[in-house]
Amino acid sequence: MWMNIAKAESFMPTQGTEIAKQVDNLYGFLLVTSLIACIILIGGMVYFAFKYKRKTDNDKTAYITHSTALEFLWSFIPLVIFLGVFGWGWYIYHQMRTMPKDALEIHVFGKQWAWEAEYKNGFKVVNDIVVPVNKDVKIILTSNDVIHSFFVPSFRIKQDAVPGRYTAVWFKADKLGDFHMFCTEFCGTAHSGMIGKVKVVTQEEFDKFLEQGSEEASLPLAQRGEKIFAVKACASCHSVADSAVKVGPSLYQRFGKEEELADGTKIVADENYLRESILNPSAKVVKGFTAGVMPAFQGQLSESELNALIEYIKELK
Ligand code: CUA
Repeated sequence: MWMNIAKAESFMPTQGTEIAKQVDNLYGFLLVTSLIACIILIGGMVYFAFKYKRKTDNDKTAYITHSTALEFLWSFIPLVIFLGVFGWGWYIYHQMRTMPKDALEIHVFGKQWAWEAEYKNGFKVVNDIVVPVNKDVKIILTSNDVIHSFFVPSFRIKQDAVPGRYTAVWFKADKLGDFHMFCTEFCGTAHSGMIGKVKVVTQEEFDKFLEQGSEEASLPLAQRGEKIFAVKACASCHSVADSAVKVGPSLYQRFGKEEELADGTKIVADENYLRESILNPSAKVVKGFTAGVMPAFQGQLSESELNALIEYIKELK
């Protein structure tokens, strides 16, 4: 019965893994036992309040000592339930934390404010992680800046991504489809924008996806820049298709234009200005924008990646 309650789609996200079903069963059990305990406790209290209500001024409180049998039962039964829940929870948690051997490993970096995933063949994607169905997948997490938290509700897995160290989670998705994934650690301005999908596809589709990844390495400079722009999640803060202002200035038709800086000086947005503004964004901030909002990319981009990005920005016309 509790299993049916927990399975109701309105209560819980779709169960995308075997572990998710186990978690929901335990959760449903907790819900139902708590409900029963609540009814017994509150119901008993209300019943006794009426039963032993003082009816006349001469009523005297009965002399009651105790009932050993009753006291034993109300201690022992909850003890058995609690120990059972502990054992059950430990059993599930142990499965979650035991990393499967021969799993498909994907490196995932959290950063302000996107998830970047890198496959063994060097293919990088952002926010949408593609995985094959019915296969053990191990996500190796870390962060480029602050603590983020990787959460896939349908898989019932959540793990912090911590700068300076690796953490890991694993799952074996048994349903095809897109599953919501997001950051559950408040990590700054666009924390709520750190959302993506885990796309569960068939093995054939997955192989095709990886192949397409190796082809991308030979793209022309500006197209590679477009790819890096997406991977580094620059689009969260800079629009490229029009002059709309997001968190940062629009980059549409920006190249070669004159910019007014916060202190009133004017500067031309040439290659060097773009370079400096990517590596050290606070150096020359355009009027009306705040220094320190954009993370510095010093040390995070190779010269060739930087060239590709600048070429891309130049072609935004
Ligand atoms: Cu990353 Cu919140």
